Amino acid sequence: MVIVVAIDGPAGAGKSTVARAVAARLDRDHLDTGAMYRAVTFAALRDGIDVADVAAVAAASRSLDLAMDDGTVVVDGIDATEAIRSDEVTRSVSAVAANSGVRAELVRRQRAWVDEHGGGVIEGRDIGSIVFPEATLKVYVTASPQVRAQRRSAESGSLLGDLDEIEAAIAARDLWDSTRDDSPLRRADDAHLIDTSERTVDDIVEEIVRMLG
Ligand code: DC
Repeated sequence: MVIVVAIDGPAGAGKSTVARAVAARLDRDHLDTGAMYRAVTFAALRDGIDVADVAAVAAASRSLDLAMDDGTVVVDGIDATEAIRSDEVTRSVSAVAANSGVRAELVRRQRAWVDEHGGGVIEGRDIGSIVFPEATLKVYVTASPQVRAQRRSAESGSLLGDLDEIEAAIAARDLWDSTRDDSPLRRADDAHLIDTSERTVDDIVEEIVRMLG
């Protein structure tokens, strides 16, 4: 049976951890769509394209050779799994994600991925609302701003600065992502809300698997 599980939510809410664990538990493939926006940003920066140049970045997204398998992200034949997480990419990615030409291209690729993989667990910001409005199950994960900042700090090995600064940076990116014109971050009306602040991954996975019936 084709199952599409859409997992949306803001940065640091625990999307990737939950999405990967649910995919493993269901023995399905997992697609991190945030990594796709990061891959386009990485390629634009690499090629010296101004991320504010809407037409040039959209064209770059269309010509990008992007392969995502088993948690690796390969851009134009080179493993960019780590490079797409750099501070430079993180700072520029919201501008790229607000580009309608990029979004159209990546949404097309996300739907093609689901066709090729016979469904899967897809995480992002607009998966339940725009990309797969008919998903089998939609989950919207959140966490308190403090918990989200702590997680980002732990991920980066505290290289990002103090917690207040990280929290402010997360809030700024949330604002960008939720107020842009095209496909802003928002919870679909029929998405199940899960606050991950005080819960274990196993517990959340159990809840999602139970909802799938
Ligand atoms: O989840 P992340 O931090 O890797 O996402 C990177 C950026 O891409 C973030 O600014 C939100 C954006 N994004 C989006 O607009 N739509 C998606 N489906 C996934 C991510």
